Amino acid sequence: MKDIEKGKLKLNTEDDTRTLGLRIAEAAEPGDVVALIGDLGTGKTALTRYIAEGLGVREQISSPTFTIVKEYKSGRMPLYHFDVYRLESGEELLDTGAEDMLDGDGLCVIEWADKTADVLPGDSLAICLEYGESESERIAEIL
Ligand SMILES: Nc1ncnc2c1ncn2[C@@H]1O[C@H](COP(=O)(O)OP(=O)(O)OP(=O)(O)O)[C@@H](O)[C@H]1O
Ligand SMILES: [Mg+2]
Repeated sequence: MKDIEKGKLKLNTEDDTRTLGLRIAEAAEPGDVVALIGDLGTGKTALTRYIAEGLGVREQISSPTFTIVKEYKSGRMPLYHFDVYRLESGEELLDTGAEDMLDGDGLCVIEWADKTADVLPGDSLAICLEYGESESERIAEIL
């Protein structure tokens, strides 16, 4: 994704995470893929919510853990929000019909993307999230 600086970013509070999400939404073009990697509670869904906000999505974003993907069509482009935690391989992701979304007309944001890394586009924007030193701090590494 153009215009997104690579490297490590300290997110002191959730507001910094929001700023990152809005920036990603602004830079996103149809067919882009954001691969989110990080442990439980590091903020993958939170970041996705702010990306959605930036795209102008009006619906409430809820975790797609049991459906694998949820589509939101009310923003400036479709948002396909995946949570592939329960999948074992990239093959399984393709079996869900994800291919049309991955090189489609919208932005794909994928939680637990490391589980399906083998089938994601090479030019995906990978963001690794880690806990920081305080309750509200996270470290994002953008690759
Ligand atoms: N700087 C921060 N950025 C993002 N979230 C933060 C931050 N500080 C605290 N939080 C809190 O951390 C939690 C992150 O939860 P979230 O559901 O987004 O994590 P997740 O990575 O999607 O977890 P899961 O693996 O269960 O899907 C939220 O309760 C959020 O309010
Ligand atoms: Mg989540």
